[in-house]
Amino acid sequence: MRQLTNFETRDVETLLHPTTNLATHRVSGPLVLERGQGVHVYDTTGKRYIEGLAGLWCTGLGYGNQELIEAAADQMRKLSFTHLFGGRSHEPAIALAEKIKEISPAPTSKVFFTSSGSEANDSQIKLAWYYNNARGKPRKKKIIGRMRGYHGVTIASASLTGLPIFHTDFDLPMARVVHAEAPHHWRAGHPGETEEEFATRLAKNLEDLIHKEDPETIAAFIAEPVQGAGGVIIPPRTYFEKVQAVLTRHDIAFIADEVICGFARTGNWWGSQTFNIRPDTVTMAKAITSAYVPLGAITVSEPVYQALVDESKKLGVFAHGFTYSGHPVACAVANKTIEIYQRINIVRHVQTVSPVFMARMKTLKDHPLVGESRAIGLIGALELVKNKSSKESFDGRQGVGAKVVAFAQEEGLICRSVGGDSVAMCPPLVITADEINEAFDALTKALDRAAHWVEKDLGIKLGS
Ligand SMILES: Cc1ncc(COP(=O)(O)O)c(C=O)c1O
Repeated sequence: MRQLTNFETRDVETLLHPTTNLATHRVSGPLVLERGQGVHVYDTTGKRYIEGLAGLWCTGLGYGNQELIEAAADQMRKLSFTHLFGGRSHEPAIALAEKIKEISPAPTSKVFFTSSGSEANDSQIKLAWYYNNARGKPRKKKIIGRMRGYHGVTIASASLTGLPIFHTDFDLPMARVVHAEAPHHWRAGHPGETEEEFATRLAKNLEDLIHKEDPETIAAFIAEPVQGAGGVIIPPRTYFEKVQAVLTRHDIAFIADEVICGFARTGNWWGSQTFNIRPDTVTMAKAITSAYVPLGAITVSEPVYQALVDESKKLGVFAHGFTYSGHPVACAVANKTIEIYQRINIVRHVQTVSPVFMARMKTLKDHPLVGESRAIGLIGALELVKNKSSKESFDGRQGVGAKVVAFAQEEGLICRSVGGDSVAMCPPLVITADEINEAFDALTKALDRAAHWVEKDLGIKLGS
């Protein structure tokens, strides 16, 4: 067993790491990163890695972008902070809201800012409740999330999340949240069932669930266009069209959680465009600032806004907001980020390099460890299995996904195991074709080493 360095020991003795196996961490210690440039990050020993997960699906423009650094510094010099409470305002927030209104895939009248995706989804729930009280529908309060969905970790957003590990022992989910099925065709499709048939079945099951719960009690449905942390689950063909029709029939709002998919990740500005979703409202965060500073946002339609106006007139104030709702530095960086995305035509860039990414992902489907390979735009995952034909998974405690990630790290690639043993790739949007190939060369070596480890150390014969 490796001896932790002094520095690593300081980490272990001081930090409570988010979403980490705290016991293993005490033994393995941290990966301490020191700097970044382009799509690469460097650890404290100077070792270089491709950031294959764009940090946490967020560093769209990569590292060391001077324009973003200058935008933040300029704003700090000019006005480091002012808030938006009680009608106060500032130019960067106004400009950003105007820009979001222009590009939003939902009918947008106003924009509400937060500092994270979790706060943004919390705000979605509060607004849905407030709105339905305002319009005289006090029973219409439940929110439908989906299994394998990820929407954050606050009490409310973790409740929307459909991954049991985020609920167990936290006494979640809270009341008034229900979960529909995950749209995972490869895992949950019946033998011989096409993607379209599977989508029809899921939409029917959703409608059954709505009837069971009583449509008059359901305010909204929340979905990521591509489920990210749940395993990069790409919806089956026609799924969202069919789901949308069900929701419309029952006056249930569609909240598109674009926290990962927004800003070109799937090859369009929004995942909603890629999958024919017509959301009522959108949650965004992460790549909106390329993660240089924290920022989240939700869009508000005109009818909802009008109801909020009436209600705040009645109550005296619309009593919701964070100190950092519309932080000027975050807004300035977001304005610059979007300006750069538009100037360099990030959507076209993703469409240009995506075929290389998709082709390398597809090739890995033939690897003995890989059951399914899924990808779109610049996001994908390899679902690892013991047996390719029976699709039998590994026992989660064997940590096969984590092992691939560890080997990849040694080979100079940072990636992440999500949603069971699915190894996710989601590099910075500005990655080039050569860098994609560099990343996949490392990933292929990591998979080969992991397959060898599974057979030799775990004594498991991989089945084809
Ligand atoms: C789709 C989605 N929604 C919400 C969140 C929560 O965002 P945050 O971690 O900024 O609270 C995430 C984070 O990964 C996410 O992927």
